[in-house]
This record gives sequence, C-alpha cells and structure tokens, in this order.
Amino acid sequence: MLIDVREGLAQGEALDMRQASPAIEFDGRIEGSNNLADMAGSELVIVTAGMARQPGSSRADLAETNAKMASSIVQEIVRYAPKCKIMMVTNPVDAMTYLAAKQSGFERNRVFGMSGILDALRYRSYLATELGVSREDVGGLVIGEHGDRMIPLVNYTTVSGIPIKRLLTADKIKRIMVKTKSSGMDVIGLKGSTAHAPAAVIAIMADAVLRGRNRVMGASVVPEGEYGLKDVAVGLPIVLGSNGVERIVELELDEREERQLKDAADSIQSTIRQANPKAD
Ligand SMILES: NC(=O)c1ccc[n+]([C@@H]2O[C@H](COP(=O)([O-])OP(=O)(O)OC[C@H]3O[C@@H](n4cnc5c(N)ncnc54)[C@H](O)[C@@H]3O)[C@@H](O)[C@H]2O)c1
Repeated sequence: MLIDVREGLAQGEALDMRQASPAIEFDGRIEGSNNLADMAGSELVIVTAGMARQPGSSRADLAETNAKMASSIVQEIVRYAPKCKIMMVTNPVDAMTYLAAKQSGFERNRVFGMSGILDALRYRSYLATELGVSREDVGGLVIGEHGDRMIPLVNYTTVSGIPIKRLLTADKIKRIMVKTKSSGMDVIGLKGSTAHAPAAVIAIMADAVLRGRNRVMGASVVPEGEYGLKDVAVGLPIVLGSNGVERIVELELDEREERQLKDAADSIQSTIRQANPKAD
C-alpha cells in the first residue's frame, strides 16, 4: 500500500508498478491511496514522507519541518497499525527514528531507521571500483550518524574475508571514507534527489523483516546502554528479522571510533532538541 498526500501520485506509482510486475514475476497486490487509514493491519510501515535535502543543505536543516510531519504520521500508525514495525526513512533519519520511538511508545525493537546500510552500500561500491573487483565481494559496516558524522568501520571491512587494509593504502581508504560521506549530496547535486540506492536498501530491510531473514547491517536504533549510549537513536550494527531489531551487535571499537561514535550521538541529540524541544 503506497500512501501520499498528493492526489493521484501514489495511485499512479502503484499503477506503473503493477504494469511492471509481470516482468519480475510479481503476483502480489499493489495499491495507492491518499488515506492513511489504508495502512490498517500493516506488519511494516515505512515512513518516507517529508522534505528532502536541496543542494547545499544538510539533513539536520530538515529537522523541524519533517518532525512535525513525521509526528502526525506516527500518531496515525499507532491508531491504524498498532502491531507494526516502523521503518523511518525521512531525514534527519536518526532524530526522526528517536522521535517515532518516543511518540509511538512501541518496544524499541519495533522502531528503526534506514541509514547505515545505505552508507555501507555506497562505501562498498567505491571500494570495489578502486580495487576493480565485484561489488558483491566487498563487505563493510558504517555506523554513527547518517550525516557528516558517519563512521565507516575500516577494521571490519573485507573483500571476501581479506581485510581491506591488506589491499589498499591508508591514504586510499581515507579518500574513499571522505567520498562516502558526501555520496548522497553528490547525487542530489547532479539529479536533484536520490532514489535507486535508497530504494534498493529499503527493499533489503523490508525483506529481512517480512521474511525473518536476520540480516546483519547498520541501522538507526535506540540503544539501551549498548556502546555506552542511551536517549538517542544512532546507527549501530544490528540483526534485522521478523521482530524488527532482533539485537544490537556489540563490536570492539578502537579509541578513535569510540570517540567518533560519542560525537555522533551528541550531534544527533542536538538535532533531536532542534526538531522537538519537548523531546526530553
Ligand atoms: N534515510 C535515508 O537514507 C534517506 C534516503 C533518501 C531520502 N531520504 C529522505 O526521505 C524523505 C523523502 O525523500 P524523497 O526524495 O522521496 O522526497 P520527495 O519530495 O520525492 O517525496 C516526499 C513525498 O512525501 C509526500 N508527503 C508529504 N507529507 C506527507 C504526509 N503527511 N503523508 C504522506 N505523504 C506525505 C509528498 O507529497 C511527496 O510525494 C526526505 O526526508 C529525504 O531526505 C532519506
């Protein structure tokens, strides 16, 4: 069920997708609607409504406007799909995930945000290009803020099990980390918005939940003491399955990464306050 406030948009997208479905052998239903009540009974609700970044603006700039929009949608989710899992996509996604968790009152496993998996996809694609190897063989995790304070975990990046540090110089890895941070804005600068990469990872996350795949990835979650953090939503490695966040995977980080993670959490907390001064 696709829902959008703009008259005809979700219905048009649904019709376009239905026409594509024979090509991918999809026999499920796809409908469009302008009415949030049509989410009734959903197992998973994916929130993508909201303003997107413009060239030169940051995700945090969207905080106040999108918090209001997300808040009214979360109220309707609680009303029409009280048993669902919520996946936030709307930016700034870490702050929006925290506010959705607080406002819904759902158990923490049922609210998460799409973030680290997308950053990792971009990181992996740049590494693969640099090495001239298949993108599929490059594995890596990105945690922290979905923004300037994202942290690609170099010590946990491998190519078919080979540590990346054996294959690339520190300098090359650093350049790719910098490029990963600006990767979303690089696309926005060229074509106005991002679509294919976010859509691909949203599909992976939905599949993990709906089929109970227990996939391991970075996502925005509300820690309850893991990594020494609480009262925030931040990108951490998780196992994503039929209950949503099955668990947070606690990894050993080096001192620098620990400091960066703390900085990321502090920055997200200030975005949360900016988005909703009453969130405390
Ligand atoms: N987490 C991520 O990695 C990630 C990736 C891409 C985009 N985003 C974010 O997702 C959001 C959407 O981006 P986009 O490029 O699809 O923007 P878009 O402008 O193409 O789409 C947003 C849609 O939301 C709809 N909308 C607005 N208010 C609504 C409401 N109350 N109920 C239902 N629909 C409503 C609008 O009509 C519009 O069609 C932005 O905040 C963007 O920054 C996040």
